[in-house]
Amino acid sequence: MTPYTFDSARIIERREEAEGIYTFVMRFTDPAVRKAYRFAPGQFNMLYAFGVGEVPISIVSDPAEPTRLEHTIRIAGRVTGVMTQWKVGDTVGVRGPYGRGWPMDAARGHDVVIVTGGLGCAPVVGVINYIFRRREEYGTLQIVHGVKTPNDLLYRERFDAWRLHPRTTVYLTADRPDKSWRYRTGVVTELFDELRVSPSAIVMMCGPEVMMHYGVRALRDKGVSEDAMYLSMERHMQCAVGLCGHCQFGPQFVCKDGPVFPYPAVKRWLGVSGL
Ligand SMILES: Cc1cc2nc3c(=O)[nH]c(=O)nc-3n(C[C@H](O)[C@H](O)[C@H](O)COP(=O)(O)OP(=O)(O)OC[C@H]3O[C@@H](n4cnc5c(N)ncnc54)[C@H](O)[C@@H]3O)c2cc1C
Ligand code: FES
Repeated sequence: MTPYTFDSARIIERREEAEGIYTFVMRFTDPAVRKAYRFAPGQFNMLYAFGVGEVPISIVSDPAEPTRLEHTIRIAGRVTGVMTQWKVGDTVGVRGPYGRGWPMDAARGHDVVIVTGGLGCAPVVGVINYIFRRREEYGTLQIVHGVKTPNDLLYRERFDAWRLHPRTTVYLTADRPDKSWRYRTGVVTELFDELRVSPSAIVMMCGPEVMMHYGVRALRDKGVSEDAMYLSMERHMQCAVGLCGHCQFGPQFVCKDGPVFPYPAVKRWLGVSGL
């Protein structure tokens, strides 16, 4: 058994979320693996397309049902391009779960603000679903999402469904809207003026680093402590277990020290060119 040993899983469901984006539900084929596997929101698996390669993909299903693993994959290049052709009944490789996830225990009893931008909101979908399934355990939920153009808004129906939940507000904005756009216009940080954030809120952010940089600044100005802000980082990965150095970010490895970091742990390195 090496750190690279994977287990086999079978695809049991496939859904198209938007053009080029698919959700796959999978189940480990070995009952012993199925029984032992546990994960937390924000963790990821290395998914393996046999003969093609392995990539890190967030787990978006509910940890209360660990035998049913859900991953949403967007075609980005070579490996994900092949993965999006997976069909129900196909066998794939899975190793994980890896990394540190979102601070769901620290957030319990608090208001939560989720800030996401660009195309990469998969890591927060799991946390939003997690809170909805345990709605009474958390305070208000504010979801702030910014895109460049309306075409970049994935999961439009999900955002519309999320805003119907009690004690939940969804803010959507596009930098360059078209006639079909019925939400706000402008960059995501402009939405912060509208947020009513309690100083004890917990903030979870995911998206382009420049957006997170300005998001932290705006929320700090609203009285949120830096210790209460958590950022999900993305880096190229190979081993996912802290051995190869591909995901190094300052003194830390995104695969094992992250991908979710408390802001003070990455503050010094965020936005440093070349990191
Ligand atoms: C912790 C973590 C969780 C992730 N979760 C998801 C998820 O839930 N769903 C999803 O669709 N994708 C997710 N990704 C991104 C996904 O791993 C990459 O899109 C994938 O590795 C691209 O592989 P490829 O061979 O298809 O593309 P390649 O041909 O290798 O690359 C295509 C383009 O994407 C860029 N790219 C590749 N990997 C990364 C990366 N890690 N960070 C930034 N840019 C990259 C390349 O520079 C290139 O421009 C996650 C990444 C990380 C690190
Ligand atoms: S991916 Fe190898 S050290 Fe993180």
